[in-house]
Amino acid sequence: MSRHAVITVRVPAKVNVQLGVGGLRPDGFHDLANVFFAVALGDLVTARQGAGVKLTCEGPGSDQVPLDDSNLAARAAYALAAHHGIEANVALHIEKAIPVAGGMAGGSADGAAALVACDALWELGTPTEVLHELAAELGSDVPFALLGGVALGRDRGETLSPLPVPGTFQWIFAVADGGLSTPAVFRECDRLRAEAGTGHTSEQVTTPDADPALLAALAAGDPKALAAALTNDLQPAAVSLRPSLAETLRVGTAAGALAALVSGSGPTTAFLAQDAESAESVARALRESGTCRAAHVTYGPVPGAAVLAD
Ligand code: C5P
Repeated sequence: MSRHAVITVRVPAKVNVQLGVGGLRPDGFHDLANVFFAVALGDLVTARQGAGVKLTCEGPGSDQVPLDDSNLAARAAYALAAHHGIEANVALHIEKAIPVAGGMAGGSADGAAALVACDALWELGTPTEVLHELAAELGSDVPFALLGGVALGRDRGETLSPLPVPGTFQWIFAVADGGLSTPAVFRECDRLRAEAGTGHTSEQVTTPDADPALLAALAAGDPKALAAALTNDLQPAAVSLRPSLAETLRVGTAAGALAALVSGSGPTTAFLAQDAESAESVARALRESGTCRAAHVTYGPVPGAAVLAD
């Protein structure tokens, strides 16, 4: 039994500052050049002793979050317990701030947070490499939520190399009504590529490399240079499925954002600002435009899933 009655873990959302999508692989995934960037907008996951795995959730969009064993937080608890040959007994509570099905890896973040929370509650001291392996089995974006900061993800996104980044970047995220399904957005990307005659399988599409200009902008902590290098190969697919995103992107740019792009598979849109003051005015313009449900000002990079001190 843990000395702690309750463990609270804070976990960041991510935005992809480069999402280079290769061809569709025979296993149904796409090889990626995926530069993850962790932002302070995050969920809190608390773990308490319980009988079996029980899940509760509160916050915006929480009615869309499955509370059964399909939730990545529950799957994380079972996976960690199975690895150690123990019974999974925990009550997990998720305080959502990350948009649900929004392209910011909120479900993956909760999976990573649950791994860290259960490891602390059950006093297992699981080595980081093992947590990373369990995370990669749960989903392509879960290992990054453990790591945080900024990192290049290869393969399906789970093979990570940390990128040291000095300073802090200011971001705004505009939350859309409803979510987009990640598999559906990848399928639409394949469909658009096939339609354009460029092919879409891993034999026809070479996987992009990390963009040297983007890596240089990150290493220099330079928001203007980063703005010029932001790319998301899933953006045309997300906008094709949700054409109204084009207007949200336009409003943020017109309000002075250095750059605007779809976050991951969307439908959340991300805006990079020069400084905190400019970020507030971009957020205000987005809220007033009525083209989004909410606009959040935040910053990054921030660390990955971590237990909060008592
Ligand atoms: O790994 P994860 O479960 O988060 O992936 C969800 C879905 O997103 C996959 O089933 C697949 O359709 C798509 N995906 C992909 N290529 C990746 C990552 C995800 O096609 N590298």
